[in-house]
Amino acid sequence: MGKINVLDTQVANLIAAGEVVERPASAVKELLENAIDAGAGKITLEIKNGGISLIRVTDDGCGMTKDDALVCVKRHATSKISCAADLDGIATLGFRGEALAAISSVSKMRIMTRTKNSPTGIIIEFNAGKPVSVEEAGCPEGTSVIVEELFANVPARRKFLKRDAAETAAVAAVAEKIALSRPDISLRFIADGNLRFLTAGDGKLADVIYAVLGRDFAKKLAPVHDMTEGVSVSGFIGTPENCRGNRNYENFFINGRYVRCKTACAALEQAFSSYIPSDKYPACVICLEINPAFVDVNVHPQKMEVKFSNERPVFNAVYCAVRNTLMNRIDRPRLADSEPTRLSGDSYRLYNDIISVKTDTDEEAARIADERERLSAKYEQITVRAEAKEPMPHYEPPADVPKMSADIPETFQAVSGQPQVLPDITVPQINDHQPPVGTLPDADISRENVPDIFPAPVTQPESEPEPPAVPWYRIAGVIFNTYVFVELEDRMLIIDKHAAHERIIFEKLRQNMKSGDPASQLLLLPVELTLTPEELAAAEEYRDELYRIGYTFSCADDGKTALIIAYPSALDTAQAKDMFTVLAAQLADGTGDVGTSRERTYEKALYQASCKAAVKGGREDLPENIRWIAEQVLTRSEIRYCPHGRPVAFEMTKSQFEKRFERI
Ligand SMILES: Nc1ncnc2c1ncn2[C@@H]1O[C@H](COP(=O)(O)OP(=O)(O)O)[C@@H](O)[C@H]1O
Ligand SMILES: [Mg+2]
Repeated sequence: MGKINVLDTQVANLIAAGEVVERPASAVKELLENAIDAGAGKITLEIKNGGISLIRVTDDGCGMTKDDALVCVKRHATSKISCAADLDGIATLGFRGEALAAISSVSKMRIMTRTKNSPTGIIIEFNAGKPVSVEEAGCPEGTSVIVEELFANVPARRKFLKRDAAETAAVAAVAEKIALSRPDISLRFIADGNLRFLTAGDGKLADVIYAVLGRDFAKKLAPVHDMTEGVSVSGFIGTPENCRGNRNYENFFINGRYVRCKTACAALEQAFSSYIPSDKYPACVICLEINPAFVDVNVHPQKMEVKFSNERPVFNAVYCAVRNTLMNRIDRPRLADSEPTRLSGDSYRLYNDIISVKTDTDEEAARIADERERLSAKYEQITVRAEAKEPMPHYEPPADVPKMSADIPETFQAVSGQPQVLPDITVPQINDHQPPVGTLPDADISRENVPDIFPAPVTQPESEPEPPAVPWYRIAGVIFNTYVFVELEDRMLIIDKHAAHERIIFEKLRQNMKSGDPASQLLLLPVELTLTPEELAAAEEYRDELYRIGYTFSCADDGKTALIIAYPSALDTAQAKDMFTVLAAQLADGTGDVGTSRERTYEKALYQASCKAAVKGGREDLPENIRWIAEQVLTRSEIRYCPHGRPVAFEMTKSQFEKRFERI
């Protein structure tokens, strides 16, 4: 064994620097955090060549005295804590006293600073951590830290830096997060002489999002706001249309600090599951405020990770806030808002000609008029019949919709190659005091409904809320046997009947699960289903969950036959069999996936199963079934996206129509 050397401070600093400043972006993060801790209202960040040649951070904060400025680059020099007890409730971004020591040891650094009461400021130049000159200077109040030739004395580190553009992008990402974390501070970011963004510092998070993440992103947001178990949640989530291919847009801030927080991400993604496709990630800018005593930020030198003394309240708070917004605050997607293209005189004439070629023969016009009359007479009878009946309590889709059965009115059939045109079906207004669409009573997500990724106390089932009143509506028609056109007082909806029904079934099954008392029907003779041994084993593993949606089954001795004794009452036997097969297959696929929680696997299997049981696009359905689906969409705010994340309905307002047709 050789002799043990105690390394000198210079080498020790170089080693420590590697942990704090990996690349220019990490230096930028530390310098911006120092400016914030100094109480700055305005900060300017400038970089050149991705921050490798230059980083300059200028603030109008408290500044430093000469003595402090000389000492600030020493390791463990900090004004933010003074004893071990202070670590239990850190209220500043910095506290380790390492950043300036680390950065100055691997670069040429200059600090220009002046405190409020001092007539002059000072400029100190450091080289590899050592002060090389100290000068008095007239400088503005606040501090400017200039870092040049980063890693020039650490060639090993320099080699690992990426191209300038990649380093600039990493710095930009840091600057964005810092800007988002403090809407009350105005941050200007300049890269290679170009202004990248400037935030107003007016305290409005929405304005910062607009300035930093752009107009397109800012247009597709919904606010979140909640306070659960002492954790306050505020900010915005991207609407389901605004989902992404990775987690880069999942921004969480805890007590003003940008962090990577697995618990919060899990809660966000869980809340979004069944609102976006399973291979997509939600976007958000969410700020959490928690008593600092419950958060440990001293986990990693870069302070990007945190530990909570109890994770559950954090998970619950994020989950409830996000889910509430998804259920109550998300508008339906709109059809493109873009301005209509005005037709030139020539094309207008051409257009007119085409239209007249199609309809301008007397014979054709008469035939269409006749057809319309015949259909309206027929439809009137059908509507009267349908209205006389009680509204359907539950939609029980037929096992297989018979092709053109006597029950299906011809109004839903294509008419000799023409698109299906339904005559007016006026539905009497049910209630004059109905809320307008979009202000449905709040269905509140309570903590009890949070999926159980953490053990929770057993909770009481909730009573079913009163169904909200149906607003005035009229089914204008169904096209391609899939899309239902619904007229409302001031807008039109186009509903994808399959997607809508899928969501309705999914919510029903989920409701069954939550109620603890599944609505199921018992069979006289068990139904046999042959599965693979893996599928049967997966079904067995999820027996409790399957019971909670209404399935009771036993396994035959052959190891591959399930004997279904009871199934969910919303289904018929064929659908119940189909659904069980899909569930078992999905569960077999999903189980064993490391990193996918049991709940997630089960929920995914439920989507597939709901899809299987829903009415199919392209097939006829009874008008009352179509109306039932439409009413569910109109009255239930959770029916917005199908469980795979496809939209259930698009809407277009009357004024958008009027704009398109140049009436207004
Ligand atoms: N922009 C600034 N304005 C005023 N004081 C600063 C600034 N940057 C650094 N300081 C002082 O230098 C000290 C050391 O900074 P740093 O090495 O980042 O450690 P920490 O932020 O963890 O305390 C800080 O505690 C603070 O007192
Ligand atoms: Mg610091």
